[in-house]
Amino acid sequence: MAFRMVPGGRFVLGVARRLLNRTLRGPAIGRCGTGGCGALLFSNLQRISASLRRPTTSLATSLATDDRSGAILREAWYFAVPGSRVRIGKLLAKRLFGEQLLLGRDHAGQVFALRDRCPHRAIPLSFGQFDGREIECCYHGWRFAPDGGCTGIPSLASGQSLDLSKIRVRAFPAREVQGNIWVYGGDDPAGAPEIPYLPEMGERRASLIETMPFPGAIDHAVTGLMDPAHGPFVHRSWWWRSRRSIHEKEKAFAPSPWGFTMLPHAPSRNSRAYKLVGGKPETTIEFRLPGVRIERIRTARHTLLNMTAVTPIGKDESEVNHLIYWTMPWLTAMRPLLRPLARAFLRQDRDIMEKQRIGLAGDPPLLLINDADVQARWYYRLKAEYLRARAEGREFQNPLKPRVLRWRS
Ligand code: FES
Ligand SMILES: [Fe+2]
Repeated sequence: MAFRMVPGGRFVLGVARRLLNRTLRGPAIGRCGTGGCGALLFSNLQRISASLRRPTTSLATSLATDDRSGAILREAWYFAVPGSRVRIGKLLAKRLFGEQLLLGRDHAGQVFALRDRCPHRAIPLSFGQFDGREIECCYHGWRFAPDGGCTGIPSLASGQSLDLSKIRVRAFPAREVQGNIWVYGGDDPAGAPEIPYLPEMGERRASLIETMPFPGAIDHAVTGLMDPAHGPFVHRSWWWRSRRSIHEKEKAFAPSPWGFTMLPHAPSRNSRAYKLVGGKPETTIEFRLPGVRIERIRTARHTLLNMTAVTPIGKDESEVNHLIYWTMPWLTAMRPLLRPLARAFLRQDRDIMEKQRIGLAGDPPLLLINDADVQARWYYRLKAEYLRARAEGREFQNPLKPRVLRWRS
């Protein structure tokens, strides 16, 4: 809606499209040109894709109630904040997976995450001071190292000994990957889904990051994210798509690490903004636990990548971080134009969740139909299998099989 009001918006988009087309024009679509594991996965997926191009065997639409557990996967890494929000010697209070946390960066640049609660009398440590080496509580000045260990209690008089090693603030594993801080919600990161790494982007930071609070449980945010049928209704706008643009689609999927991938295809012809990428782009969309969607749009010379990470803030509260990466330098100049587009898009999803929340009061059963809701079913199956695998102390076994899905959107 915001874009209807931009004077000359169509003109600017037209110019942008021409610029993009010119820059991206090139020989055949590059498939393995980006190198690394991503390219390997990509070429393997293409092979599987070829074997999958056959019609689905049944047109029957089955009904199933969803089997959401409602549980937050604690043994998982979650996107916390862009690294630029945590400077050396600064503390940032941040709620994640139902815990009040404190994020910080020490004098050496290492990030850390602690429970934001002084073990003495429970004052949030984020109200205190941090000099890059020790956090000092604002109430009685107890000091703590970034690993959570107590390093000093100013009130102790001479001769009063206390074993400080027995006093700790709970620390959560924290890592900075490609400029973003991820925090682990449990105790044992070994055997958990890895933090997504985007090999084609190297140390390149996201060109655009939008953070949006979502008023609902992570399950609803994730299934909304992967839901192909809401586009023509929720994201209807002149710059993206119209209700009339609805048509039948067929996409091949294959299991991929910790999730599934929509195999290479041409971007939806009814989504106008994709034309901005120009050339003959190919898209893959990967989903992985606990709630990360990575969409890669590639041409011979360039890549546009959308990574959306859903983070549980509490039981009925989530946050969506949408990161857009691109390799086209001139697109950076258009960032002021793209930012409101991305924000408007996320707001549409957030607004529909606001409405859904009203109906979800009382936790009614929900329906998942073939084929449009199959990805949502997959998400619940993946989640259930991961919970089972952790409980049984065994390796996660991806329960999904390659499949072609058809729907209208
Ligand atoms: S509450 Fe933190 S030092 Fe007393
Ligand atoms: Fe959406």
